[in-house]
Amino acid sequence: MTSLTQKLSVIVGEAFEAQDLPRELGAVRVSDRPDLCQFQCNGAMGAAKQAKKNPREVAQGIVDVLAADDRFGSVEIAGPGFINLKVSDSYLQAHLSDVQDNIRMGIAMSGGGQTAVLDYGGMNVAKAMHVGHLRSLAIGDCLKRMMRFAGYEALGDIHLGDWGLQMGQIISEFAIRYPQWPYFDANFEGEYSADAPFEYSELEEVYPLASQACKDDEARLELARVATAELQNGRRGYVALWRHFIALSIADIRRNIEPLGIDFEIWKGESDVNDLIPEISDDLKSKGVLEESNGAQVIAVEREGDNKDVPPLMFFKSNGAATYGTTDLATIYDRVKTYPALTHLVYETDIRQNLHFEQVFRAAERAGYADDITLKHIGHGTINGTDGKPFKTREGKAMTFRDMVVACREKADARLAEANLDDDIDQDELDDIAAKVTCAALKFAELSNQAHMDYVFDLDRMTSFEGKTGPYVLYQAVRIQSLLKKAGVDTDGRIDLNITDADRSLALLLTELPDHFDMALKHYSPYVLCDYAYKIAQEFSSFYGNCHILSEEDEAIRTSRLALCALTHRQLVLVLELLGIEVPARM
Ligand code: ARG
Repeated sequence: MTSLTQKLSVIVGEAFEAQDLPRELGAVRVSDRPDLCQFQCNGAMGAAKQAKKNPREVAQGIVDVLAADDRFGSVEIAGPGFINLKVSDSYLQAHLSDVQDNIRMGIAMSGGGQTAVLDYGGMNVAKAMHVGHLRSLAIGDCLKRMMRFAGYEALGDIHLGDWGLQMGQIISEFAIRYPQWPYFDANFEGEYSADAPFEYSELEEVYPLASQACKDDEARLELARVATAELQNGRRGYVALWRHFIALSIADIRRNIEPLGIDFEIWKGESDVNDLIPEISDDLKSKGVLEESNGAQVIAVEREGDNKDVPPLMFFKSNGAATYGTTDLATIYDRVKTYPALTHLVYETDIRQNLHFEQVFRAAERAGYADDITLKHIGHGTINGTDGKPFKTREGKAMTFRDMVVACREKADARLAEANLDDDIDQDELDDIAAKVTCAALKFAELSNQAHMDYVFDLDRMTSFEGKTGPYVLYQAVRIQSLLKKAGVDTDGRIDLNITDADRSLALLLTELPDHFDMALKHYSPYVLCDYAYKIAQEFSSFYGNCHILSEEDEAIRTSRLALCALTHRQLVLVLELLGIEVPARM
């Protein structure tokens, strides 16, 4: 099935065609002015220009055709030649019956047979996760869910930062702390222990110290460089130690992301492409793409018409070391080889990596590595505190991811304590509700903003049960659930709708789902789904306030309203699921 705007576009397009005008100009969309009409078509102006006619006359020709069509309630011309449309209630009812019947509620399978790899999170081994990771994680996870729903085989790859100088910095810091460990004895030939001789917390503590020491002291930096090179060349003890870093870091990452319902199919990192680099370097040389520049090997990526400086991608530094650009180019090469049906490669990182990805994508294009593949980088802005500066703890330190989730959970607990929850909710259920409210608050606050914009992290606002928040939308979903439960009718299947004035606005809104989904997918924009979820929640709330549902005496209207509630609930739950938000049974 197709969406209502698509169906209407076909009907109006045919009317254009009947007047010898291009069918595409009959495109119909939801009206910007719901006070005047439900749908609008603005094609008459363009058609008039092409046909050198008066736009109102062209519009009149279309209106004459459509006026006789009983699928419309009214067809009018406005202003210079806008065509304002209302559908008839019977047509609206028939369309919504199709939606009721359709498990996808009209959303098309646009990604069938295609594979997408989504690269998000990108946490660095040994480094505490920070608030900014919420952005990449929530957005990447939502895009993955949307692409899956559209039929793509969508895979999330965490792409751990596990290979740079930081690894050498930590290794050398541990060498200073624990020189007696076998990892540092070049002659040690025994087995290294499977378990790390230190806790994750120590690793997290060592990272900033080691990095500061290397800034302050040239000799320490040199130690770190040597250790990095030795690790990358496979020194046994260092590799064994580094594996502990990775294992402990992954365990910590899992502890952080699991409560938020986020996971990855691929747990690879920068290090995983190390062995491919010589082969890629040969290939680039044979294609004449790699050139020497001041002792380094680079790929020129500037283009005619660039309005900013796009420096070459550094493939090997003059000391022979690979860079962040090298691993990213190699990762594209690897992914394309690993996934034959790959069509989309989507990255979500801090917006400051824009130039990096521009360089990598252009290099991949020059090398011919991503010929029929859409390469897309989505950059996110900063999360600020209510003071407008990057979000900090009360003590003025950068906020960790863990602390942020804990702070949000505390607020959610406090909000639930104020709310009038049912008396028979036990502690387990309360915990489940609080966890879901926390997740909804965090993700909805994140996803309702456009990715490239900075936003203010305001715990009071985002956990509120009122306004454009996750908890508000959840609350409306739960309200419908309890209503349906009380009604005790099976509302899942097809039920004949009986639309009255009081139902029309909600009924019309429920026809929009596929349009919003397509828009969100096309522009990689979860905020479009948040807007829609919020609209449904608000519309339901006024519907609930304005008309009788359970107390409706006309049996046909009562059944129809319950069916409308059921459809609202299905849509809300689906949209929330796409956002990565689960609805509790009660709240
Ligand atoms: N680890 C990187 C960082 O912290 C992000 C990785 C993003 N993904 C990528 N393929 N470069 O900045």
